[in-house]
Amino acid sequence: MAVTLTSYLFDKKKEIGHLDDDLIILINEIASATKEISAKVRKAALLNVLGSAGKTNVQGEEVQKLDELANEIILDTLKKCGKVSQIASEEMEDKVVLSNSGYAVAYDPLDGSSNIDVNVSIGTIFSIHKDNVLKPGREQLAAGYVIYGSGTIMVLTLGRGVVGFTLDPESGNYLLSHPEIRLKEKGKIYSINEANRDKWVQEGLRKYVDFLKGEKYTLRYVGSMVADVHRTLLKGGVFIYPADKKNTSGKLRFLYEASPMAFLIEQAGGLSTTGEKSILDVVPEKLHQRVPVIIGSKWEVEKCLEFLAE
Ligand code: AHG
Ligand code: MN
Ligand code: MN
Ligand code: MN
Repeated sequence: MAVTLTSYLFDKKKEIGHLDDDLIILINEIASATKEISAKVRKAALLNVLGSAGKTNVQGEEVQKLDELANEIILDTLKKCGKVSQIASEEMEDKVVLSNSGYAVAYDPLDGSSNIDVNVSIGTIFSIHKDNVLKPGREQLAAGYVIYGSGTIMVLTLGRGVVGFTLDPESGNYLLSHPEIRLKEKGKIYSINEANRDKWVQEGLRKYVDFLKGEKYTLRYVGSMVADVHRTLLKGGVFIYPADKKNTSGKLRFLYEASPMAFLIEQAGGLSTTGEKSILDVVPEKLHQRVPVIIGSKWEVEKCLEFLAE
């Protein structure tokens, strides 16, 4: 018998102390929102929701129609569900405060905006804390992403390992398809935008990438963090978005991208670092704060730190 996301969550209640009914309802609501986004993504060209929305967001990026649509679908869901205290989104300048206590959700409604129009994998990332969104990643109660790829898959952690559910297009249910996602100790792939090589701040990083080439690693870089992290989780290797001369703290946002992905990677047995400490130990000060990201298999991340220390 197939295990649905809902039955999986109720089943885990006994084992995971912080998994109460409210958190289960919230995760189910987020899952429903992503089903709606998935449906829009699948027929985007028919719905006239491809292309730019004609505005710039707080990140200084051109907003795509689907960024806006996905943001509204999730925002609406979170506001209505009655379990949420605070909401922060990559696409919103300020956080929404609904109450003093409850679950605080930070999300990247549509990750991989540059890939929307060309039918390459994109996703949604979410992070759940108690009460307040501005907390270290280690205090997350749950985090996950949904990848809208050749299939729609939700990858989730409740702080006890990592699991994956595939959206069954026939029943409309998320069904358990990846009962235990464990990262390999060492992989064969590195993932970084090498076009920025000359702009990287650290010489050690250039030497590290050259070292991986010498070790016969191959390069895979989709340009959607969800897709690059999904592959890293399943196949091992390393994903990096470093500081460069233009983005002095890297490009990726702590709250919506780095922190939830680092939680998933570490829960799957991998490592995460900013180059200085685990991403999960960063104490965020601002909503849209950025942070350098080095995540993946233990061996590659440790080796990267050795090169950066030289
Ligand atoms: P978003 O589409 O949510 O703004 O995120 C884009 C991010 C991330 O998905 C990806 O890893 C990175 O941008 C790619 O950046 P470059 O194009 O600079 O390589
Ligand atoms: Mn963006
Ligand atoms: Mn993103
Ligand atoms: Mn985004």
